[in-house]
Formats: sequence, C-alpha cells, structure tokens
Amino acid sequence: MHVVTLIKGDGIGPSIMDEAVKVIDASGVKITWEEAYAGMSAFEKFGTPLPEETMTSFDKTRVAFKGPLTTVVGTGFRSINVALRQQYDLYANVRPAKSWPGIKTRYEDVDIVIVRENTEGLYAGLEHYLTPKKDIAESLAVVTRAASERIVDYAFQYARDNQRQKVTVCHKANILKYTQGLFLDVAREIAPRYPDIQFDEKIIDAACMHMVMNPQQFDVVVTTNMFGDILSDLTAGLVGGLGLIPGANIGTDAALFEAVHGSAPDIAGKNLANPIAVIMAGAMMLTHLGEQEAAERVVNAVEKVVNEGKYVTPDLNPDSKAGTVEMGSAIVAAME
Ligand SMILES: NC(=O)c1ccc[n+]([C@@H]2O[C@H](COP(=O)([O-])OP(=O)(O)OC[C@H]3O[C@@H](n4cnc5c(N)ncnc54)[C@H](O)[C@@H]3O)[C@@H](O)[C@H]2O)c1
Repeated sequence: MHVVTLIKGDGIGPSIMDEAVKVIDASGVKITWEEAYAGMSAFEKFGTPLPEETMTSFDKTRVAFKGPLTTVVGTGFRSINVALRQQYDLYANVRPAKSWPGIKTRYEDVDIVIVRENTEGLYAGLEHYLTPKKDIAESLAVVTRAASERIVDYAFQYARDNQRQKVTVCHKANILKYTQGLFLDVAREIAPRYPDIQFDEKIIDAACMHMVMNPQQFDVVVTTNMFGDILSDLTAGLVGGLGLIPGANIGTDAALFEAVHGSAPDIAGKNLANPIAVIMAGAMMLTHLGEQEAAERVVNAVEKVVNEGKYVTPDLNPDSKAGTVEMGSAIVAAME
C-alpha cells in the first residue's frame, strides 16, 4: 500500500485529476490518496497558497501527484510550483514527448525527453525593483557547479537506463558566459564519463530552429531551468499539444508528478480538458513507486484510446463528442 499526497489544483485541475485517480485506481495498484491543497484554491480556502497541512503531508509521503496551479501573471504570490521544487530539492524535471500513431502532426517519429534543471537558473526567485518608481527591475540567474553536475549526470544516467543514444546540452554560453558557460563546461566534463552515449551541444536559439525543422536529431536534452520550461512546450507542440505531456519532478528523497501544462482557465469547467498528460504523469509515478506492471497497464490503455481516436477530447479530435470524463472512462474500460 502506497500513500500519495494528492493536490488537485486549479482551473481544469480537479476535473483531470479525478479522471487520473480513477484510471490509476483501476490499474489494480493500492494507493491511499491524502488530499491536500495548493495554489489559488488553497489561497481562497485557507488564505495561503501553500498551507502547512500540505507540507506536512508531502513531508511524510515524499510522493505527490499534483494538478496545475494558477499563478497570476506579473502580480500576486510567487509560483507555488517553483517553491515546491526548491523546498523539496526536486532537481530533475523529466518531460517526455513522443509521437502517437493516432494523432496527426507534422512529424510521425518524435521521441524527445527534456531533462530540465529545476531549482535554480533564472527561476531562483531573486527579483526586485531597483528604483522606488519601479521603472527598473532586475532578475538574477544563479547557476552552481553542484546543481549543474547532478542534472547533467542525471540526464546521462537516464539515457543509459532507458536505452537512449544521445544527450544534447542546450545553452546560451556565447552570451551568458558565466552562468551558461558554467553549465556548458560541466556538461563537457561529464560527457566523457558516458562513452556509450553520444554528446552534442546546441545554442538554445538554434536548438529551437533545429527542433522544429528536424526533431528526429534530438533524443535526451539537458538544459537550464527557463530553457527547459520553454523547450518542453515546444516539444508538446510537435506531438499534438500540451494535453499530452507529463512531467516528473525528481529529488533525492521526494518526487512530484504533474502535467507540463497549466490550469487552462479558458476551458475550465467545460469537460473539454484532455486528462492524458496527468494520467501519463500518474504512470511515471507508478514506475517511481516500483509498480511497473500497473504503469504499463495504464500506458497501454491510454495508447489504445488515444490511437483509436473515438473517445478523446476535442483538442485531439474536433469531431469527437467525448469530454474529459468520457475519455477517463474509456481508458478504464480499455484496461478491463
Ligand atoms: N505546473 C503548473 O502548475 C503550471 C504550468 C504552466 C502554467 N501554469 C499556470 O497555469 C495558468 C494558465 O497558463 P497558460 O494559459 O499560459 O497555460 P496553459 O498550459 O494552462 O494553457 C495553454 C493553452 O493550452 C491549452 N491546454 C492546456 N492544458 C490542456 C489540456 N489538458 N487539454 C486541452 N487543452 C489544454 C489551454 O486551453 C490553453 O489554450 C497560469 O496561471 C500559469 O501560471 C501552471
């Protein structure tokens, strides 16, 4: 029996998380879900976006399954996602994007895993105004040798463990010679320790162009925090959209699983949200919990439903009459 902290989140969060829990429970694995709150819904309920109870639960379970959280643009509280990643030192953000035979996109054979440094860089939270008039602002990027070493090492180890061929480091060391330069130097130092894995390096702007024009040349990509954030939405676009891409936030003694996408306020409450990203994040969580068979059952059922294209949300098939709930039920049925 596993105990997992369940944070349903904001916007489309509760609806997609309900389907994900339904699917995971149907996989036969025994999980006690400990519900906790974070983000806007927690702020409205408890007056804080990250209540003590949520931390107490995660402190105990060390595994969290989380829906998207709304972070107001420009004002309001700091991102709770960033805070949780830093607080629990969830240093590796692993975001796989793979083509689905049933989803028509520009390419049929994309298979890229973004491994994003998750605790520092430009998202270190060091921002302030320099003048009382607030007409000059400054953000500091922090890159440490220690964090760079462990994320690059994680990416190479991930490549080796998952029968991958190549790791590409994406950087901007030509302009940001200290922060990005340090990250690139570390990557170059670590690469020779993995002679079985090819190593490549690309400047981030060129990497974006190559990824759009010829995504097959990318396998595992390792990069700093903000570039990883942006690149993973790009890879989502290559394989059919944000509704499909899961993310694992892995630390040394805690892990948090979620979708790459946000709370999608434009479609919240309409039974339109695609639950696949969180369901696939749930499958990554099952693997993390050592429940590989259950994880495979979930992935096989998702593949069947998505590739059949009948009971899928409109982002995947505009002619489909199915919504979030019907898609979740079809996945459960596909497991039986
Ligand atoms: N991990 C997280 O919790 C996380 C990640 C990204 C953004 N956010 C937050 O989410 C809020 C909204 O951000 P945004 O609009 O820029 O990004 P978003 O990812 O919520 O939405 C971008 C677009 O993709 C669509 N989309 C997203 N998920 C979908 C799904 N499951 N099914 C179908 N369509 C889907 C949306 O309808 C929207 O058109 C913001 O407050 C942002 O800070 C949270």
